[in-house]
Amino acid sequence: MHDPRHHTDPLAGLLGRYSVGTRHLAEPAPSLDELRRMAAAALRAPDHAGLVPFRFAAIRGDARERLAGLFEQAALLAGKGAEDAALDRRRALDAPLLVAVIARIDPGHPVATLHEQWMAVGGALTNFMNAAHLLGYAGKMLSGSKVRAAPVLAAFCEPGEQLVGWVVMGTAQRPGTPKFQKPGPDALMRDWP
Ligand SMILES: Cc1cc2nc3c(=O)[nH]c(=O)nc-3n(C[C@H](O)[C@H](O)[C@H](O)COP(=O)(O)O)c2cc1C
Repeated sequence: MHDPRHHTDPLAGLLGRYSVGTRHLAEPAPSLDELRRMAAAALRAPDHAGLVPFRFAAIRGDARERLAGLFEQAALLAGKGAEDAALDRRRALDAPLLVAVIARIDPGHPVATLHEQWMAVGGALTNFMNAAHLLGYAGKMLSGSKVRAAPVLAAFCEPGEQLVGWVVMGTAQRPGTPKFQKPGPDALMRDWP
């Protein structure tokens, strides 16, 4: 019987994901339906006590203009000049789609520690990005000091929430490439003792 596993590596998709920055992204970006499926993948990440300590906010179409205003405001508040602030403004407008990643960490939770909740956020982000990749899209997680700027926080976060940053998303105009020299898998997977 034909067994496709003999011909294709089931991990090929995962192993081929690289971040692709705004400069190399174009339309189309994931649709609302595809974003829902990516969120479903995020919900499959390990999550101690099932807290779902994260949510996403898609900034689509014209909403990017409002985000651009916030980026500009954050840059000016950080002491940047008008020219640099205009560049920051473009960071919101140039991406086909941005998805804010918002963490909702409960520091006093009796079961899941802080680091366990942050791990759940990281796992969710990774599943979200891998899902986008497997659907044929690309993107990059970005943060920077503007995630802590008061007007930006006020626009995205409810009390108790923290803004992690934004995933820029779209269709890659050129394949992503490795950015760091990393050790091979043998360096991090060993027998114990
Ligand atoms: C929470 C988080 C925030 C990040 N913020 C930035 C950032 O502001 N600027 C940046 O160049 N890379 C940032 N990165 C790293 C990139 O998203 C990306 O992972 C890195 O460039 C390595 O590329 P790769 O994903 O192809 O291995 C961030 C990653 C994470 C997880």
